[in-house]
Amino acid sequence: MSTNLLITGGAGFIGSHVVRRLVSQYPQYHIINLDALTYAGNLENLTDIESRSNYTFVRGDITNAELVESLFDKYSITHIVHLAAESHVDRSITDPLIFIRTNVLGTANLLQAARKYWGNEYSGKRFYHVSTDEVYGTLPLEGGMFTETTAYDPRSPYSASKASSDHLVRAYWHTYGLPVVLSNCSNNYGPNHFPEKLIPLMLHNIIHEKPLPVYGKGENVRDWLYVEDHARAIDVVLHQGRIGETYNIGGHNEWRNIDIVHLLCDLLDQRLERPAGKNRNLITFVKDRAGHDLRYAIDASKIARELGWYPVETFETGIAKTIDWYLANQTWLDHVTSGAYEEYYEKQYHRS
Ligand code: NAD
Ligand code: TYD
Repeated sequence: MSTNLLITGGAGFIGSHVVRRLVSQYPQYHIINLDALTYAGNLENLTDIESRSNYTFVRGDITNAELVESLFDKYSITHIVHLAAESHVDRSITDPLIFIRTNVLGTANLLQAARKYWGNEYSGKRFYHVSTDEVYGTLPLEGGMFTETTAYDPRSPYSASKASSDHLVRAYWHTYGLPVVLSNCSNNYGPNHFPEKLIPLMLHNIIHEKPLPVYGKGENVRDWLYVEDHARAIDVVLHQGRIGETYNIGGHNEWRNIDIVHLLCDLLDQRLERPAGKNRNLITFVKDRAGHDLRYAIDASKIARELGWYPVETFETGIAKTIDWYLANQTWLDHVTSGAYEEYYEKQYHRS
């Protein structure tokens, strides 16, 4: 049986790295990328692979049942890697309903389509749901880590919507035997990251000498993973993960926000040949995020033990690559901030 893999959200930050990896590593697969191209979807992330013969892009919404069913039918889908989501916590605070629509209803719609199309013929099929460590809630600064058995305790509309989708995916496994696998990952960083999230926003603002908004006192802690390490983990879980199982993915790399901002300021002082300490003057402490989770930390020992996955990048090497990429790709950054990236689809896919 051939492998026809539907990836959702493949024009986004993580999705584009996963698409590139799967298209390149598995020329025998047909990779169909379904993405609505919301503000977060950017086809300029995929220019290097868009003309590969094993790749097809479809613009569409995962909540559209008719469309999703037609894709299962047209491409005889055997595998799903589901990343499409609204992904930014701050946006979920101001506009929660779109998170429930895409993250909960969209996931339910994909599950229904898989069940309907696959019938009870589950051999060789797989539904992989990509999720976040934020479903586990928050940790104290002093210690503790999220494991796969930590009770869910989501606290933002974003994490609550992702938790709901995780529960639905597991319910389809327990109730219908749908062959699912899940992973919950910590904060990613790297090339193609939309500059609304901490690291790319700070890089963008430092480059343009704009204020660097640090929420509260900057004492919140996140565990950071280089995006290509995550894409490789997704490849591993897709192919080797046990059906019905969940794998936590993390970078063993906890940082306080303020320490990251200081690091980026200092590294860019050097790279941009500014006087030492100049960029730190841009730091502005602003009102804290509502319900701001204090600390996330992932115990990623299960995926290491069972599937042999470890992060390859250290924070030092990953941040160096990320800074190199943002400095070398200022056109990408300019297009994202000006909105010009939104014209790419019309230009490339709708030429008359
Ligand atoms: P992103 O916001 O960069 O990309 C999301 C993609 O989904 C975009 O291309 C967007 O156009 C698409 N999309 C949104 N709504 C859609 C809809 N209704 N139908 C079809 N496509 C739609 O997100 P990301 O940071 O790449 O995250 C991808 C996935 O990984 C998400 O499920 C997220 O919850 C999860 N995750 C992200 C992180 C992180 O640090 N960014 C960490 C762990 C897990
Ligand atoms: P973010 O990149 O939005 O990821 P998440 O909220 O999913 O962890 O934020 C990472 C951390 O950085 C989080 O503690 C909030 C903080 N933050 C700021 O201090 N300033 C900012 O401008 C942003 C976007 C985030």
